[in-house]
Amino acid sequence: MSAIKLSKPQWSSQRIFILAAVGSAVGLGNIWKFPYIAGENGGGAFVLVYLLCVALIGLPVLMAEIGLGRMGKANPPQAMANLAADFRASPLWALVGLAGVLAGLLILSFYTVIAGWAMDYFVQSAMGHFRGINSEQVGDYFDGLLANPWALLFWHTVMVALTLAIVAKGVKGGLEKALNLMMPLLFLILLILLGWSVAQASFQDSLRFLFAPDFSKLTWEAVLVAMGHAFFTLSIGMGAMMVYGSYLPKRYSIGKAAVWIVLADTLVALLAGVIIFTVVFGNGLAAGAGPGLLFQTLPVAFGQMSGGWFWGTLFFFLVVLAALSSAISLIEPAVSWVEQNWRISRVKATGLLGALVWLLGIGTVLSFNVWANVHFLPGKTFFDSLDFITANIMLPLGGMLIAVFMAWVVSDRQRQAEFRLMPGLDAAFKWDLRLIAPVGVLIVFASNLASDVWQQVVAVGVALVLYALYVYNRSRFNLYRVADKS
Ligand code: PFF
Repeated sequence: MSAIKLSKPQWSSQRIFILAAVGSAVGLGNIWKFPYIAGENGGGAFVLVYLLCVALIGLPVLMAEIGLGRMGKANPPQAMANLAADFRASPLWALVGLAGVLAGLLILSFYTVIAGWAMDYFVQSAMGHFRGINSEQVGDYFDGLLANPWALLFWHTVMVALTLAIVAKGVKGGLEKALNLMMPLLFLILLILLGWSVAQASFQDSLRFLFAPDFSKLTWEAVLVAMGHAFFTLSIGMGAMMVYGSYLPKRYSIGKAAVWIVLADTLVALLAGVIIFTVVFGNGLAAGAGPGLLFQTLPVAFGQMSGGWFWGTLFFFLVVLAALSSAISLIEPAVSWVEQNWRISRVKATGLLGALVWLLGIGTVLSFNVWANVHFLPGKTFFDSLDFITANIMLPLGGMLIAVFMAWVVSDRQRQAEFRLMPGLDAAFKWDLRLIAPVGVLIVFASNLASDVWQQVVAVGVALVLYALYVYNRSRFNLYRVADKS
């Protein structure tokens, strides 16, 4: 069976690839989600775990995922199938790609709803409605917006339409130019907001909250959320980076690109966090306010700043753009798969999947009003459930399997040829993917299965034994393979 290699479009430069990947990584996850989950989970200790997960699991898995895309040269399910065939592994590996396609669609269905809130705020700000506004008024405005399913549905529809319009045209084209301008502007505006924050009395409180760890506030569920967010924020575990990697010419360095992506992504999240908590503590707001945190805080800051109308409007515009550049990467794995697998046009594939995402998004729209008290997972609304299943389960699981595939299935020679790392770094990369990434994910998963310490120990033990069995089998297989060839 010959492998089907389909991805033809190539990035026009290493810089454009990094820009597109940073565009995918930097989004609502950094500006909206990170601050609110840090607030809900007690701050410092949570942030520390998140940073550890980004460095020890996120970076290597990001490299592995881009590498698999470039080696497999196709949409995620096909790329995994190609590689499994090349390395004589089970064809079931294609399921990792397929699960990624599904995860992307599920995430996009709520992503566009939240991006719609930013769109609404952009319009409100442009019309001058946030001038001199205080925190109570912003809170009321936000509550009013969420209580109105028709408004949310309207903005969700607008965001889905915008995403589809860009994706239908292909990943390159206009997007490259837009990203070129947008990413530096987003940094600039965050720096301006940082300047404003530093001058506030509550700036110190914000720093203390985010960077002084209090481990008594850390639960296993918080560790799971922090780990899940490391995957979510870097866009890994679901094939988005795999697709982008499949368009990457061989001569570009994956390691270098990945370091830039991680640095930019982390910086934006931390900046957004510091700014938002400065407003929170300066106005007596609750750190654990939940998904509304960004929207209940920043208009207050803009309302007090000189030139706040201009900066506020620009800010929400950039949030919408940042969300769009992530949204297109959420649907790209599905589009490229449907297009290539079902042999229909890109425009048709996009339309079909867009309709699905739009429909599913209605569940999230209703989660904040009509269905606010309807629970899907225990204690979780439709939106909370989708967020939990995707970010905290599907992405870490996908990322773990990507790590395992790169570390145990791909041969040393192939890995070295693909990444061209110095010997010491290559060994660190391989052993991180073999040990730290999968074992880390397994421990966090297993610990969340039970609340009793002994049950947790047993669950972790069982998970690790299963992994050890896989490794034992795989190594034996590799030995035979070497023997075959000699
Ligand atoms: N990384 C994006 C964010 O932080 O907003 C969200 C995301 C995009 C997740 C693409 C996963 C993905 F494949």
